[in-house]
Amino acid sequence: MKLQFLTGALALATSLSVSAQNQHVMDINTFKAGAPVQSTMYGIFFEDINYAADGGLYAEKIKNRSFEFPQSLMGWRTFGNVEVKDDGPFENCPHYVRLSYAGHPHKHTGIENEGFFGIGIKEGDEYRFSVWARCPQGGKSTIIVQVVDNSSQGETQEQASCKVDIEGSEWKKYTATFKGIVTNPKASLRIFLRPNGQGNPIVTTDLEHVSLFPVDTWKGRENGMRKDLAQALYDMHPGVFRFPGGCIVEGTDLESRYQWKNSVGPVENRKLNENRWHYTFDFRFFPDYYQSYGLGFFEYFQLCEDFGCDALPVISCGLACQFQNENKQWGKPDMEAHCPVDKLQPFIDDALDLIEFANGDKSTKWGKVRADMGHPEPFNLKFLAVGNEQWETADNPIFTERLKKFSDAIRAKYPNIKLIGTTGPDSEGEKFDLLQPKMKTLGVDLYDEHFYRPETWFLAEGNRYDKYDRKGPKVFAGEYACHGKGKKWNHFEASLLEAAFMTGIERNADIVHMATYAPLFAHIDGWQWRPDAIWFDNLRSFKSVSYYVQQIYAMNKGTNVLSLTMNKKPVAGNPDQDGLFASAVVDTKENLVIVKIANTSDKDQDIKLNLNGLKGNHSVETITLSSSDMDAENTLDNPTKIVPQKGSAKADGVKVSVLTDKLPAKTFRVYKIKK
Ligand code: AHR
Repeated sequence: MKLQFLTGALALATSLSVSAQNQHVMDINTFKAGAPVQSTMYGIFFEDINYAADGGLYAEKIKNRSFEFPQSLMGWRTFGNVEVKDDGPFENCPHYVRLSYAGHPHKHTGIENEGFFGIGIKEGDEYRFSVWARCPQGGKSTIIVQVVDNSSQGETQEQASCKVDIEGSEWKKYTATFKGIVTNPKASLRIFLRPNGQGNPIVTTDLEHVSLFPVDTWKGRENGMRKDLAQALYDMHPGVFRFPGGCIVEGTDLESRYQWKNSVGPVENRKLNENRWHYTFDFRFFPDYYQSYGLGFFEYFQLCEDFGCDALPVISCGLACQFQNENKQWGKPDMEAHCPVDKLQPFIDDALDLIEFANGDKSTKWGKVRADMGHPEPFNLKFLAVGNEQWETADNPIFTERLKKFSDAIRAKYPNIKLIGTTGPDSEGEKFDLLQPKMKTLGVDLYDEHFYRPETWFLAEGNRYDKYDRKGPKVFAGEYACHGKGKKWNHFEASLLEAAFMTGIERNADIVHMATYAPLFAHIDGWQWRPDAIWFDNLRSFKSVSYYVQQIYAMNKGTNVLSLTMNKKPVAGNPDQDGLFASAVVDTKENLVIVKIANTSDKDQDIKLNLNGLKGNHSVETITLSSSDMDAENTLDNPTKIVPQKGSAKADGVKVSVLTDKLPAKTFRVYKIKK
């Protein structure tokens, strides 16, 4: 009996000590608010990749609406008597189509647009058709505009329609609205000539800038954004918005770089640019991918204002995409692809003029352009990035010698603008190691680092920013995502590892001032790069788990960092930390202590949080992202498979409030402790 008791007691003691040993005790110092978390900390990065702009966020449904693609009729089918002309009313978009009599009263002349992987319409929703048109020889004509389903086996192909009367030889804008009769994600838009009134002949008609928008866009704007996609961005609570790229800033050649001046002013007159993502990958090739710039710099600044976040434009530094212009034979950059340093002035002027466009008053040239577009107030731009992923060698400083010229000119004219440099495409290695110290020497305010890396990298880099130089420029993690090894989709584990890594961003808010996941959007039929935060087709969209990770951080960023340690060390997935990553902040406005913990291991973990500085009972809200299937993902058909789950917990203690929890394996959880 005695022996039995002793054995039992021993077993209990052993199990208690094992459980005490396995309990992960984290000490959080709520006494002392540390470094402020910047309002810009968690943001978004938009690039027109994966049909993110035309065919995506930009709600226009007509592809090649101005017939400016190099093959003028790409995206269009024609029938009857159609000619392409190039002396139209818009200087930068001179092409248009001429529709004439087909030779017999029963024959039709017209055009049909395929949209972006089809044209999506919804039953009962209203659409606005518009076109610039004239009857060049005078007179009156009528065009029939139909949304059609060519594969329909039903009585009619027509799924919505309207009729527009065109009169006179002057170019005018005509508008008509109609409602969708059915829901179809892949319709076409057909336009054809009809005699105007009984017995009248067909009158030759010219059409330019053929456009179709839903009436219900984000904020109801005519040249507007798709409402569900803009809402998804708004719901991310971004603090900063980087735009327009990415590689498209640089261009495959300088000719195709993003030139912001082409993206402002009347939308009909914005010069088309090619989109480098149409040919970047042989395995995902989209010859019809161009940039209409309908979502241009004005619309971008307006979105920043809508979202209440800071704008962070990126401009070309005069280097064309270095990936595409390295002379493979010599292993050296092909200098002919780039703008020589002594000819950089127009590029520098573009940068200065962009600041004027954003912030100048109406008396300035570019401030007036903005005011004429409907925004007399300045946009209050504070940041500007020069160059995207640039790099150089020790003996050929092609980036920094250009950056210096930009920096000198911008600092002289706009000393308050914060300048952002770059450490190139890699998160470490030769290019990074060369540029990182140079960013300090050059005195940029922040530098942009990029990392699309596998699981092992994210697990190993929890301490990355703990080691950064505190005296150098601040960090902008401008593009990053966990790219699963052999798993290029938005699977759960990748998002969990991003959440884990981000505890290190948060803990180092004194040095990391901005972070933006990338890319942001992808059309399900038109992607070139994945994973991505938000996926969509022509009518629906869904948010990946990575989106929710970003959203959770942005909505719970607090105001100041708090010290959180386990055995006096930051919790950063170190070998002796059982796959745990953690960080803590205080929100002095909401009176909350917010702790984020990721358990990346495949075991449930006992957690004990000592909330030093708090005592008594505190209510705790929790937000959890978890899945037992590491490969699981949200999809268009199952968009809410993995979404944040709300729960509650308690913290209690006479001298120090303590919160205990069993954090399930492969789980990210946020604890919001009411102070
Ligand atoms: O996000 C996709 C691409 O990745 C960006 O255009 C570029 O900056 C990076 O290489």
